[in-house]
Amino acid sequence: MNSASTIAPCPGRLDGRIALITGGSRGQGAAHGARLSAEGATVYLADVLDDEGEATAAALRESGADVTYLRLDVTDQQQWTAAHDRIAGDHGRLDVLVNNAGIVHVTPLEEETAEAWNRLLAVNLTGAFLGLRTMLGLLRASSVASVINTSSIFGPSGAIGYAAYAASKSGLLGLTRTAALEFAADGIRVNALVPGGVATPLNANEPGTGVVPETPLGRRADPAELAAAVAFLASDDARFMTGSELVVDGGFRAR
Ligand SMILES: NC(=O)c1ccc[n+]([C@@H]2O[C@H](COP(=O)([O-])OP(=O)(O)OC[C@H]3O[C@@H](n4cnc5c(N)ncnc54)[C@H](O)[C@@H]3O)[C@@H](O)[C@H]2O)c1
Repeated sequence: MNSASTIAPCPGRLDGRIALITGGSRGQGAAHGARLSAEGATVYLADVLDDEGEATAAALRESGADVTYLRLDVTDQQQWTAAHDRIAGDHGRLDVLVNNAGIVHVTPLEEETAEAWNRLLAVNLTGAFLGLRTMLGLLRASSVASVINTSSIFGPSGAIGYAAYAASKSGLLGLTRTAALEFAADGIRVNALVPGGVATPLNANEPGTGVVPETPLGRRADPAELAAAVAFLASDDARFMTGSELVVDGGFRAR
């Protein structure tokens, strides 16, 4: 079976949960929003692409979902604080935090500039750190808190031209493990999602088919296939999982 359209949500599995998804305007973040809300969650989609985010949220609301778009540049502590205050005022807790916002560039290491390196690390890695630290109080107020950090197959593996990206995604694995240890006593689970190639705007300009030739299943994932894994990690079905990496890569890492 290889059609993502056959993936169905588990109705009611996330009833009443409050979820915040960064990078939620499009791509995987939008798919996570659709899936979590279809399973009963109240969802905040956060991004810097305001028009796309508002349109994504409006389209989901039309199908009865409880979805709100928030402006949130994950590199900006003040905007994280504003998102915290909004969710604190609305609900007083946060059950699911999906650190999904990310950017990529491909540059040989020798030509990488400190400016481009720092920008990428600020979004992909520091953004997740700021989010986790800012939302801790609201996560502690939940009895079912789950944090999902979006790494990549280029976290555990290297990739030519991807020094900054691979460093950020590898760093997220370290952040995930350490946060899992520090917050286990608070009942906060922290896991990493490790996607292989996914068909989204992020890699739309990638030359050729990207990692498809090295992917045993022979295609990129549909974002819905990652959203299914995120819904699982967010739910009680994964209640004994923390500090883990859930690899959804069509077999890339099995080689
Ligand atoms: N597409 C892939 O093949 C692939 C593979 C592995 C991991 N990932 C990771 O999955 C995540 C989602 O990416 P995607 O594939 O859906 O790509 P995408 O480009 O469609 O989505 C990324 C989203 O992050 C948002 N974003 C960028 N900078 C931001 C900032 N400073 N603050 C808030 N939001 C910001 C973008 O506006 C966009 O909506 C990323 O972390 C990416 O690195 C993607």
